[in-house]
Formats: sequence, C-alpha cells, structure tokens
Amino acid sequence: VTTGLLGRRRIRLMPGGPTPLQPAARLSEELGVEVWFKRDDLTGFGLGGNKVRGLEFLLADAEDCGCDSLVTGAGPQSNWAMLAALAANVQGLRAHIVYYGTPQPPAGNHLLACIAGTAVEFTGDTDRASVDAAIAARAAQLQSDGGRPYVLPRGGATPLGSIGYVNASVELHQQLLDAGLAPRELWLATGSCGTQAGLVAGGVWLRSGIRIVGVAVSRPPQECAARVADLAAGAAALAGSDAPLAGDVDVRGGHLGPGYGVASAAGREAAALVARTEGVFLDPVFAAKAMGALVAAARAGDVIGPVVFLVSGGAPTLFTAGQEAAA
Ligand SMILES: Cc1ncc(COP(=O)(O)O)c(C=O)c1O
Repeated sequence: VTTGLLGRRRIRLMPGGPTPLQPAARLSEELGVEVWFKRDDLTGFGLGGNKVRGLEFLLADAEDCGCDSLVTGAGPQSNWAMLAALAANVQGLRAHIVYYGTPQPPAGNHLLACIAGTAVEFTGDTDRASVDAAIAARAAQLQSDGGRPYVLPRGGATPLGSIGYVNASVELHQQLLDAGLAPRELWLATGSCGTQAGLVAGGVWLRSGIRIVGVAVSRPPQECAARVADLAAGAAALAGSDAPLAGDVDVRGGHLGPGYGVASAAGREAAALVARTEGVFLDPVFAAKAMGALVAAARAGDVIGPVVFLVSGGAPTLFTAGQEAAA
C-alpha cells in the first residue's frame, strides 16, 4: 500500500514505474500526423489495461471500509469486471460478478474470471442496465448473510475510480517533459467515461492545455459528455482542484459501428494498420474504434500533431471479437 498523489491511499497492482510512452513512427508516416502511444495495455496486472489504475484506489477504499467481498457487473466480455475480480482476489476479497444475458460457455474475459474462481451469475435479461439491480440484490444478500460487500457500478466509473487517471495525467506529464513533447490532443476510447473524466480532471489540475478527445464506443456522445463532466467534477473535488469547464469535455460520436461490443469495419481497418505498422494490437471493442476515429480525422486533415493515443488494453477480447462486451 502506498499513499499516491493527493494523499489518496492506493494498493499497488501495477509493478511500479510509468507505462511506456512510445513514438508510433511508421503509423505517423502513414497518417501524416505525429502519433505517440501511451501503453496502458501494459499496466502489468492480469493482461493489463486502463481499469487497473482506478482499481488501485478503489481497493484501498474497500480495505478502509473493512469490506470482505466485492460486487460488480457488466457483460461477459467486460475487461472491467474481470480485472475487478482479479484485483479483489489479490486483496483477499471474495469477488462476485453479475453479467447481463443468459449463461453461456466461458470465453475471453468470462473465461478468465472463471479461472480466477469468481462467483459469476447472469441476470437472464439482455438489457445492460439489468445488471444494476442485480448488483444491488447480490450485495443485499451478502449483507443479510453478515458480509460487508464493496459495491462498484459497471465500469467502476466513480470519482474515486477516476483518480487513477488523474494520477496517469501526472505520469504522462513528466514523460512528455522528458521527451520534449507538447501534444495538442490525447485521444482515447470512452465507455463508462471514468478514464476520460480522470484525464480531463488531471489536465485541469496540471493546466496542461492538452485537449482530451474521447471517442464514444458504447453510450450516445451526449450522454458520455454529461457523464465525463460529472465524474471529472467529482474527481476534481477529491483532488482539491478546480472543476473542469464545459469546453474541457470533448466527446466524438459516429464511430460505434454496428453496436457496442461488436467490431466495426473502420475499427478493424485501423487495428490492422496499427498491427502492421507498430506491432501493437488494439482491442476491437474500444481502442480499435477510437483509432478508427483518429485515422479518419487525420485523413480529413482535421488533426495537428503531435497526438497521444491511449492504448487502453482489452487483450482478452482480441479472441472473442464480435461478441458482446461491456465497460
Ligand atoms: C480496453 C478498454 N478501453 C477503454 C475503456 C473505456 O474506459 P471507460 O469505461 O473508463 O470509459 C474500457 C472500459 O472498460 C476498456 O476496457
């Protein structure tokens, strides 16, 4: 356990040290825009990914609350739910995941959650929101059995969870200084919005001037913008910093493709381009679609480099592309 930035306690899941900031030289040449990758697929816990950062702070809170279990939920291909369960395990908490839909043979993240011994249940309802009531019901059951569950919403999207990316902003700020880089924009995929919110709050705190561009890959962009603003304000309050302004929130729509959790043609093409030029795999549900948006903007001449792109993880869904997933 360490006390991180802002005095918030954090339980180390990441091995320590920053994730790499790397030039994507061959991709940059293809696009005519200087692109750098922030490799948060390499956060070093489980198969990596952005969710590890928030979990470090959430787990410390669970411990402070004296909890003995963790309850969350999402779709069976959720990177979040799998990583939350894994993190709970290493903290000695019993992990419970509620998935929407009906029981199915374990694959991808669902398979990894099962390997990790997670108590898994299905709502029997394909509506993603069915998870919310089922999480509350499972938590109530655990409580009535004398347990102390720590309950987290889909995606772990809470102001405290977003502090993970306030911290990441500081980490990145130092890396940019070291590299002598002053990017205008940082692009990422946005789902439950906690990651973007943390980056927005971090940018305000640091007065970085970097525009955080979120590409909506699950919720409508207007809904995302409102969520990012709320979560960023909450994270800023925890950090004791100024609340972001409406102009600090930039969410782009039009890149969802056939739907949430389903690969898009533009995303497939962008992921293939990145694999071919940089040897980096982008997950089909989040990062591939965000890269599809960046590629389209670059080809339209709408981006001025240098730009940082957040490679946010999601390796398990590389093997289940086309199946549903959840933030
Ligand atoms: C690989 C990956 N990238 C991006 C995101 C989006 O992050 P957020 O839900 O914080 O918006 C997620 C969310 O689960 C994810 O798993």
